[in-house]
Amino acid sequence: MRRTVDVDATILSSRVIARGTTELALAVPRNAAPRPGQFLHIRAPGEFLRRPISASGYDEETGAARIIVRDAGRGSRAISGLGAGDRVRLLTPLGRGFPMESIIRDIASGKKIWLAGGGIGAAPLLFAASSVRAADLAIDSFVGFRDEESVIGVRELGECGSVSVSVGGLVTDAMTRAMESAVPDSILACGPVPMLRAIQKICAGRGIRGFMSVEERMGCGVGACLVCVCRTGTGDGWEHRRVCRDGPVFGISEVAL
Ligand SMILES: Cc1cc2nc3c(=O)[nH]c(=O)nc-3n(C[C@H](O)[C@H](O)[C@H](O)COP(=O)(O)OP(=O)(O)OC[C@H]3O[C@@H](n4cnc5c(N)ncnc54)[C@H](O)[C@@H]3O)c2cc1C
Ligand code: FES
Repeated sequence: MRRTVDVDATILSSRVIARGTTELALAVPRNAAPRPGQFLHIRAPGEFLRRPISASGYDEETGAARIIVRDAGRGSRAISGLGAGDRVRLLTPLGRGFPMESIIRDIASGKKIWLAGGGIGAAPLLFAASSVRAADLAIDSFVGFRDEESVIGVRELGECGSVSVSVGGLVTDAMTRAMESAVPDSILACGPVPMLRAIQKICAGRGIRGFMSVEERMGCGVGACLVCVCRTGTGDGWEHRRVCRDGPVFGISEVAL
């Protein structure tokens, strides 16, 4: 049975894959392997508070979880600076991820599902795409990046379906253009808040369903401190939910952004 564990994980490899962006593989216990959309809560060297980082893959054979970290400040820079052989304290797996079983069932039954990622938000989508591919199915992706030097994941996503890459433009523009010929049944999204808001609007206008992974600053990562609360629901009945425990993946129209 999978359960959350607090472990000293060994870094198996580390490589810079884009400007200020590092991919690391970490050995995690097999019974604590993350699933797509789940995250690891990592104690960066020298930091008191852990930092949440999505899993971007998991290799069943080696037991290695993959993460992609963008230098955003002290904590993420310290995690990026870890090298093979270093050890780091982390909690894994955390959060509710993408419901991959029903997503895979939907794709198998002919439903069209798109991935939509902005910047480092592409990282958890790589994991979702690879699990669709592992089921011998395909999924199309729309990803956007600030500039050429920041592009990640295009090769991996291309192995799982078609990929539209927007550099310096809005990923949602590419999606609305593509919707002139085919509207998806659902979208799985992760990225900056303005992109997620635009996707909510696109989905609401066309009756598209789906899921999004949202980010909030975190304290405990396990549902106790309420640092990460977001608002879900409609104007009639707001609810406060914890991104770490009730998310980070929510229904696409669920979170008030
Ligand atoms: C569920 C989840 C999954 C994440 N997955 C990844 C991932 O796969 N790869 C990755 O590189 N990053 C990811 N992040 C974001 C990452 O946790 C933050 O960038 C990191 O904690 C920043 O810490 P820092 O000490 O480097 O920066 P700080 O010095 O603390 O902050 C640097 C800047 O980042 C902003 N910031 C800090 N935390 C967040 C946050 N949670 N959301 C938005 N802005 C923030 C701050 O306001 C500030 O502008 C994820 C966050 C969440 C909540
Ligand atoms: S980070 Fe403590 S409740 Fe979510």
